[in-house]
Amino acid sequence: MVHAVYPGSFDPLHNGHVDIIRRAAGIYDKLTVAVLDNPLKSGSLLSTQERVGIIEEVVAGMKDVAVDSFDGLLAEYAGNIGAKVIVKGLRAISDFEYELQMAHLNRQLNPNVETTFIMTATRWSYVSSSRVKEIAKYGADVSKLVPRPTLQVLKERFAQAPA
Ligand code: PNS
Repeated sequence: MVHAVYPGSFDPLHNGHVDIIRRAAGIYDKLTVAVLDNPLKSGSLLSTQERVGIIEEVVAGMKDVAVDSFDGLLAEYAGNIGAKVIVKGLRAISDFEYELQMAHLNRQLNPNVETTFIMTATRWSYVSSSRVKEIAKYGADVSKLVPRPTLQVLKERFAQAPA
């Protein structure tokens, strides 16, 4: 049984993330989507609870996909939950250098956990949480970029305080 963990900030979850979740769930026996619990990170829009809640709604129909949050080191967390694989999405070469560094460091911290990469589908390769937040903040439509639960939360968040 191969248990994989898909970690991220997911602030907020967008369609590129959902694509990776679906594809990873089709490869591994169990997938845990793990939200980094970083309340102090500057630029965060949603609480950990809100981010977890959105993902739970989206994966509700998916078999063997769980949602969790973690703090501390990912390599340790993966070991603690019995995950042998870390899944990351790669959008472009620009993601690669950072991901390569993380993969090597995580392997040094926990040699029992392998990092694997799934290439983000081309149609979502330009989508990032930062850009989604920026567009939503200005009141523009992000419905083509995010799943319904994310859209709902963004609408509530920016309804009363358009920038
Ligand atoms: O969605 P993101 O922001 O690219 O996700 C980054 C994440 C959560 C995968 C990364 O920040 C992470 O693993 N944080 C946990 C702390 C850690 O293990 N850092 C690496 C040590 S070298």
